[in-house]
Amino acid sequence: MRNLGQLSLGWPALLCICTVFSSLFTPAVAVKENDFKKCHQSGFCKRNRAYADTAVAQGSSWVAPYKIPFELASFKDGQFQATVLKTIDDQGTTAELPIIISFLKSGTARVTVDEQVRKEKSIDLRHNSGARKERYNEAEKWAIVGGLAVDTNAKVSHEGKTGMKIQYGPDFTFEADIRFEPYSIEFKRGGESQIKLNDRGLMNLEHWRPKVEKPAPEKKEGEEGEEEQKDEENKEDTVAVNPSEDESTWWEETFGGNTDSKPRGPESVALDVTFFGYEHVYGIPEHSGPLSLKETRGGDGAHTEPYRLYNSDVFEYVLDSPMTLYGAIPFMQAQRKDSTVGVFWLNAAETWIDITKAKESKNPLSLGIGAKTNTHTHWISESGLMDVFVFLGPTPKHVTKSYGELTGTTAMPQEFSIGYHQCRWNYVSDDDVKEVDRKMDRYKIPYDVIWLDIEYTDDKKYFSWDYDMFKDPMAMGQHLDEHGRKLVVIIDPHIKNVGGYSVSDELKSKGLAVKNKDGKDFDGWCWPGSSMWVDCFNPAATKWWSSLFNYDKFKGTMENTWLWNDMNEPSVFNGPEVTMPKDNLHHDNWEHRDVHNINGMTFHNATFEALMSRKKGELRRPFVLTRSFYAGSQRLGAMWTGDNQASWEHLGAAVPMILNQGISGFPFAGADVGGFFGNPEQELQVRWYQAGSFYPFFRGHAHIDARRREPFMLAEPYRSIATAALRLRYTLLPSWYTAFYQANQDGSPVIRPMYWTHPSEEAGFAVDDQFFLGSTGILVKPVVEQDKNTQEIYIPDDEVYYDYFTYNKLSTTKGKNLTAEAPLENIPILMRGGHIFPRRDIPRRSAQLMKFDDYTLVVALDKHGRAEGELYIDDGDSFDYEKGQYIHRTFKLNGSTLASTDAEGRGAKSVKEGDWLKRMHNVAVDKVIIVGAPASWSKKKEVQVEAGGKKSTVKLEYFKADGSRAAFAILGRVGASIGADWTVDFS
Ligand SMILES: *[C@@H]1O[C@H](CO)[C@@H](O)[C@H](O)[C@H]1NC(C)=O
Ligand SMILES: *[C@@H]1O[C@H](CO)[C@@H](O)[C@H](O)[C@H]1NC(C)=O
Repeated sequence: MRNLGQLSLGWPALLCICTVFSSLFTPAVAVKENDFKKCHQSGFCKRNRAYADTAVAQGSSWVAPYKIPFELASFKDGQFQATVLKTIDDQGTTAELPIIISFLKSGTARVTVDEQVRKEKSIDLRHNSGARKERYNEAEKWAIVGGLAVDTNAKVSHEGKTGMKIQYGPDFTFEADIRFEPYSIEFKRGGESQIKLNDRGLMNLEHWRPKVEKPAPEKKEGEEGEEEQKDEENKEDTVAVNPSEDESTWWEETFGGNTDSKPRGPESVALDVTFFGYEHVYGIPEHSGPLSLKETRGGDGAHTEPYRLYNSDVFEYVLDSPMTLYGAIPFMQAQRKDSTVGVFWLNAAETWIDITKAKESKNPLSLGIGAKTNTHTHWISESGLMDVFVFLGPTPKHVTKSYGELTGTTAMPQEFSIGYHQCRWNYVSDDDVKEVDRKMDRYKIPYDVIWLDIEYTDDKKYFSWDYDMFKDPMAMGQHLDEHGRKLVVIIDPHIKNVGGYSVSDELKSKGLAVKNKDGKDFDGWCWPGSSMWVDCFNPAATKWWSSLFNYDKFKGTMENTWLWNDMNEPSVFNGPEVTMPKDNLHHDNWEHRDVHNINGMTFHNATFEALMSRKKGELRRPFVLTRSFYAGSQRLGAMWTGDNQASWEHLGAAVPMILNQGISGFPFAGADVGGFFGNPEQELQVRWYQAGSFYPFFRGHAHIDARRREPFMLAEPYRSIATAALRLRYTLLPSWYTAFYQANQDGSPVIRPMYWTHPSEEAGFAVDDQFFLGSTGILVKPVVEQDKNTQEIYIPDDEVYYDYFTYNKLSTTKGKNLTAEAPLENIPILMRGGHIFPRRDIPRRSAQLMKFDDYTLVVALDKHGRAEGELYIDDGDSFDYEKGQYIHRTFKLNGSTLASTDAEGRGAKSVKEGDWLKRMHNVAVDKVIIVGAPASWSKKKEVQVEAGGKKSTVKLEYFKADGSRAAFAILGRVGASIGADWTVDFS
């Protein structure tokens, strides 16, 4: 910002920058919704909504123009192939749309529709555009990493002139009923309808057509430049193929002073998807609002706009809105009692999704009794292929697992990265950083990472330092390393466009920047002023980008320096909707329009890859935080929910958003603790620390104008309460790490909403303010309202629940709320009976310093006196776990025996032990705390432990039930190695 005076801005740019800045400097001002399009301002959305209105208004007389001639349909080796013919005029002319339906081994079905003339590139582009002629077909290349093997056992069960039925999936219980005319595909499981594509006939693939000009007699020579304007004014200049169609948005569109040249004209893809009997749908992040998505066509409590996916820099976003935010995952799950299904709409262009719900008293397609609610969805994208994956469940776990097989699962995190991160815009100097570090120690507040926002650079030139303020970055890094701490620095995709800056010079000379529609380097405005954008769709750009991070190239960085990628939507201050023009060109001449929602992921990917090669032979897991994301970004690091505000409402909005990330395959998520804009009062800040200590990604952050608010700045008793929340996070790190491991294995969310853990309990389907931590049975409902002293917690089952801190056995009823005490110093946390979870109870400064600490196991017994749990540990840093260098235990208390066994049944010497595993021999189980311990143990003073063939006696302390407090026992010190088999005999 201090650079502003030096910039020579054109006035439109200046105006725009001023707008941005004035909002930044006025914390109370909310996002200007008018800066972002509503559906009616986005031509293809408006056209498709109008199309839907026409279809719905015509009801049963609506004739959709799509059909499959049966003689063009065939099925072979797990794939159905045909051509959908679209009737495009009154003469019966058709456009050919090749369709492939693949039945995958995972039980997922994929429906892909292309356009023949575009496949063949036999179209003409307007304005001499250099853009590609095909429909964008590389979203798969970025998003999909596996799970595409075709199930060659899938078989035709019925074939005729009207359609074909394919049986597939587990025991052939799945069926796709493909109808030829009108075209539709209905998916069934166990004979019951689940999902139908084109159920309402809203499919619309806008075929390519030349722009037909009527001779315009009034046009004189030399008026070329005004042609576009005239088209807007005189719509009759253009001959409509179908007079009922509104062509006004086909050829050019202007928004906020920017005109999109649209060289291919209209090309949207849209499809309706019905979920039969499903009242709840979740997913399609990123939006703020409830987990169970709202209807979008008006009515009581409903939105009036569709949910939008068009990655945007929306600072100070409004809450409970379908408006787009920074990232996009076009994956939706539908939930009804005992059944979960889903769809993944693989498209990277601007996308809108309408949702409506309709009661059906008599639905001939679904079995069962009573009125059912069907959820109707309408997916609308601006360009690209129509490419839909259909998941038939039947459980949330099946759906997230199948989705994870396709797009990949959460990368195993750096262990430090699940600790606490301390950030602000900005720590102003290396002395400032060291001082914050010392103060955290002075107040015994654990943390792992301190962050530097954009001001550390020299004039916003990334890969450089402002040496006036950061005199010795290496000494700062070494200072942090003394306590195992790390530094994260920001690097954004905009590169200052200025001569003599080597990064900028190389970007230009190597031709690796995003191009404008004329093929010249695109120049726009961002933090550094005039900037260019590295085009990470280009493998050569990624390779070059990687080279910039080498320790000897990016001076001042070292082994404990990690990365933050911001503004990668990309944010362009003077661009349309604060991003790039859609007719910009990327690598291979794909238009920005086609790839927009993937853009952020390619940059995140490039930085991830860069960290993999900072130094030859250094093989460590990268940590990179991203703001923008797409399906697949979970493979690359963490995300946060962007520029929120220091308000109770924003605190409340965070948990549903983070839960939504988790069920959408990207669970390493968090919200800025304290709120980015504004100054939280102390109570709000403390409540935010309590909530944040249960975000998978836990970072305090603040705007440059916000007052300093590191946790040590709080007055007592707030400081101690916040510190207790931070310490709680650190004691539970082994449980968090195990939950991340599970996410890595099968795509499970790290924090899990009620519908996900209890898919039979309808009362929990809309509950989105409480969650379980992994499989630990720890149920948390952070307080997000002011002046609260109690908290209502929904109880999803008949199991016994204990208070985490007091061991009180709570009197609960399935499906009802429990009222928990929640004065400021309390985080409402319950332990569900039947679980065992690991902790590390010695408070330390950082996660790294806890690496070889002993463990405490907490056992919460269920109604039958049983419990089970899991622990996964590895070195938390390298990829050696891929070579068996990890410990994975199952703990089971069954009757009178508590046993630790290898979770995978591996023998003792199954791998050659590396240094880390060897050191872990000396890491032991210290205490075991058994909550709900049976009265029969009350006389016991000791128990027998058997470990490694040796027997020993271990002291047992028994505490009788006292009022509502459950009986509990403390066993210790056990002393058995955490990685070894051992048993405790309580008989
Ligand atoms: C990053 O992108 C490249 C190129 O598409 C790909 O080969 C690589 O697997 C990606 N990295 C990750 C971690 O997904
Ligand atoms: C439980 O409490 C929540 C408020 O947190 C409330 O919305 C809900 O209606 C309550 N449920 C029951 C069954 O009382």
